[in-house]
Amino acid sequence: MAHDGIIYLDHAATSWPKPPEVLDAMARALGPAGGNPHRSAHRLALEAARLVLEARSTVAAFLGVRDPRDLLFVPGCTFGLNMVLKGLLAPGDRVVVSSVEHNAVARPLAALAASGVEVVQMPVDEAGRVDLDAAEELVAEAPTRAVVCQHASNVTGAIQPVADLADIAHEHGAVLVADGAQAAGHLKVDLAELGADAYVASGHKGLLGPQGIGVVYLSPGLEVRELVQGGSGGDSGALSMPVVRPDRYEAGTPPVPAIAGLAAGVAVLGREADELFEQEQRIARRLLEGLAAIPGMRVLGPVLGEERAPVVSVVHEEVEPDRLAYELDSRYGVAVRAGLHCAPAAHAAMGTAETGAVRFSVGRGVTEADVDAAVEAVREVCLA
Ligand code: ALA
Repeated sequence: MAHDGIIYLDHAATSWPKPPEVLDAMARALGPAGGNPHRSAHRLALEAARLVLEARSTVAAFLGVRDPRDLLFVPGCTFGLNMVLKGLLAPGDRVVVSSVEHNAVARPLAALAASGVEVVQMPVDEAGRVDLDAAEELVAEAPTRAVVCQHASNVTGAIQPVADLADIAHEHGAVLVADGAQAAGHLKVDLAELGADAYVASGHKGLLGPQGIGVVYLSPGLEVRELVQGGSGGDSGALSMPVVRPDRYEAGTPPVPAIAGLAAGVAVLGREADELFEQEQRIARRLLEGLAAIPGMRVLGPVLGEERAPVVSVVHEEVEPDRLAYELDSRYGVAVRAGLHCAPAAHAAMGTAETGAVRFSVGRGVTEADVDAAVEAVREVCLA
């Protein structure tokens, strides 16, 4: 449904509008629960501590994390991926990663490669999906510390075979690290089943929270070096971080308003997810069908009928992506994202590294009428 005259199809960048429950919860965290959790012992601080405790349980339950202490709050998905990759890998380690990662994975790995980590890339098929046979061969080829892969692509919408990659990793003594930025809140994520040893998600996209919050799941057996040290509210006499979770990985005052907003968003999802995910899939299919029918239009990634996250990126043979996105916004109030989407590797795999693409991404609140209006607008711009 259009909000404030905007047809918002940029949910892969950030979900909008946020449910009112999210705004209310954030206001409460700045008011009656406005103390510093796990520091002071007065009523405002205790309310804040209770809020964080409950929020951790809410988000953990939604993602299938059995022990909420294995679910860590971090400032965002990029921070979380840096924390896991840099905390896990050391010079001399080998890591096998998909060749279509977002820069939140590609750049930390490039920095690690410069300090002596060997980074090997897994090929993908024409839709951007990891080739499992090639992946197995690469992982078996030499001792490997980690296999790293996105759960879903922010460019092609391709859903990666994370559970199979986890099996391959475990057979060869490696751990599986997944980037769930585009999956959490759009696809069913059950971390008790998936097999990922580390799973990182953004709070402000599918999970409907505000910006400034993300989560890291670390399986009970996996410890990584913490990226940041500082106050933890307990064991203050020691110069090292406490070894218990989540304290070890959450130095400094937590972002309570953002945590509150995230938990409120996830609570909404908890009530709606089954219907919402199905609806997003239906609307994304309609969008794909409508865009693909426009003469001169190429859709990237999985074809109609194949599974994908609710993201559809397109390139028109005549209208440049930046121009199309600009016209959609300025003339029709349709909000999309053009360019490389911080994922040049995915565009290289699709042959769009030079041009980029225009991405339409669906989320909570998007209706069939919205995508029909957006497709009609695209048709008018492209056929003018
Ligand atoms: N990674 C986000 C996107 O795909 C910001 O737009």
